[in-house]
Amino acid sequence: MTYQALVYSYNIYLHPLKRYPGPRICAASALPLIRQSLKGNAVLWMVRLHQEYGEVVRVSPNELSFNSAGAWKDIYGHRKSDRGALQKDPRFYQGSAANDVVDIINANDADHGNIRRVFANAFSDRALKKQESLFLTHVDKLISLLGKDAVLSPSRMVNMVDMFNFTTFDIMGDLAFGETLNMLDESGYHPWVSAVFANFRFGTYLHCIRYFPSLENVLLQFVPRSLKTKQKMHGSFSQSRVDRRLEKQDARPDIWGLVLQRGDCEVSMSRLQMYAHSNLFMIAGTETTATLLSGLLYYLLTNREKLARLTVEIRGAFENECTITIERLQSLKYLQACIDEGLRMYPPISNGLPRLVPSVMLMDWMDWIWGSIQSIQQGPEHQSSRSNAYPIPDWETWHTTSFP
Ligand code: HEM
Repeated sequence: MTYQALVYSYNIYLHPLKRYPGPRICAASALPLIRQSLKGNAVLWMVRLHQEYGEVVRVSPNELSFNSAGAWKDIYGHRKSDRGALQKDPRFYQGSAANDVVDIINANDADHGNIRRVFANAFSDRALKKQESLFLTHVDKLISLLGKDAVLSPSRMVNMVDMFNFTTFDIMGDLAFGETLNMLDESGYHPWVSAVFANFRFGTYLHCIRYFPSLENVLLQFVPRSLKTKQKMHGSFSQSRVDRRLEKQDARPDIWGLVLQRGDCEVSMSRLQMYAHSNLFMIAGTETTATLLSGLLYYLLTNREKLARLTVEIRGAFENECTITIERLQSLKYLQACIDEGLRMYPPISNGLPRLVPSVMLMDWMDWIWGSIQSIQQGPEHQSSRSNAYPIPDWETWHTTSFP
C-alpha cells in the first residue's frame, strides 16, 4: 500500500511529464486507460479528454496523446539528420512470446527495409494491374448478390458491414493464401475470420497486461481460454494455407506469386516469417477496408445530396459496369474526396499507434522526455476543429461533430 502510494505521488508531483494536462487520476496510474481499453471505449474517452484538456493530454503516467497537426511529423515522420526516428513501442507491437517473429510491423529500421524490398513487387501499380481481374471477380459477386436481393426481396435488410467484410476477406484470402475464403458464396463468417476478430480482443488484453511487464506470464493465464484456442487455430490455419500456396509454385499474380517471381524470397525470409506476413496482410487489408467502406456508406446514406453528386460523377464517367477499371476510377475527383472524407470521419485505426522517445530530444516545438510514449489518436485528431492536418477540401466536409 505504502509503496503504491509513493508511486502515485511520484507520478503526480515529480514525474518528468507532470506539467502536461490531464485528469489527475491518469497522471497517477494507467488503470483508467486500461479500464477504458478493456471496455472498448478508449477512443471515445480520448475524444472527450482532448475536448476538455486541449491538444496534449497525459493519458497515463508515462503516456502523452496528441491531436495537433504539428505532432504528426514529429511522432511518425522520417529520420531527421539531428535525431533518430521515434521507435515503435514494443509493448504494443511485439507479438506474444509464442509468436515472436520479425514482421514488417514490428521490425527495426534495418529489417523493415529488407522486408519492404521482398514485397515491393507485390505492392506496386504493375501488381495492381495484374491483380485487377482477381479483385473484379469478388466485387462482381458482391454486386450480383446485392442486386439479386434487391429484386427478390426488396424490403429485406442487408447487413452491409458483413457484406464488406465477406468481400475484403475473400479478396485478401485470394491474395495472401492463393485461395478465397468463400464468405460471399456462403453468406457467413469463416471460422478463421471469427478467430481474427477474437485475436483483436486478445491483442487488447495483451497490451493492457504489458503495463505490468513482470506479471505478463501470470496475467496471461487470466485471458479467456476460448480466445487462446482461437488464436492457436488462427495460426495453424494460415500456416497450412501458405504451405499449400507455396507448393503450387504457379505464376498466379497473388502476393506470393509475385514475390516468388523475384526468386530471392526463400533466401531473405524464413517460412515462419511468410506465415506471419500472410496473417498480417489478412488482418491489415481486410477489416480496415471494410470498416472504412461501412463508415463511408453510412455517411453517404445520411447525406443524400453527396450520394447524388457521387452517383452523377460515376454514371457520367462510365458507359456501363463493364467499363469500370481501377485506373479510370482513380481519376474520379469526387470519389477520391469521399474516400478521404470517409477516412477522416471514420478512421479504421482510430487509436494511437504508440512511439517511444529513445533519449532526451528537443523537437521542433516541444521537449520530449526519455522513455515516454507518444501517439496521435486519429479519432480525436480528425474530429478536432483546431486540426489543420486535414484541411477542409473544396468540395466541403459533411459533418463536423461527433462519431455516429
Ligand atoms: C482503409 C484501409 C487501410 C487502413 C486505414 C490502413 C491503415 C494502416 C496504418 C495506420 C498503418 C501504420 C501501422 C503502424 O505504424 O503501426 C498501416 C500499415 C500497413 N498496412 Fe495498412 N491500412 C489499410 C489497408 C491496407 C491494405 C489493403 C493492405 C494490404 C495488405 C495493408 C497493408 C499494410 C502494411 C503491409 C503495413 C505496414 C507498412 C510498413 O510498415 O511499411 N493496409 N496501415
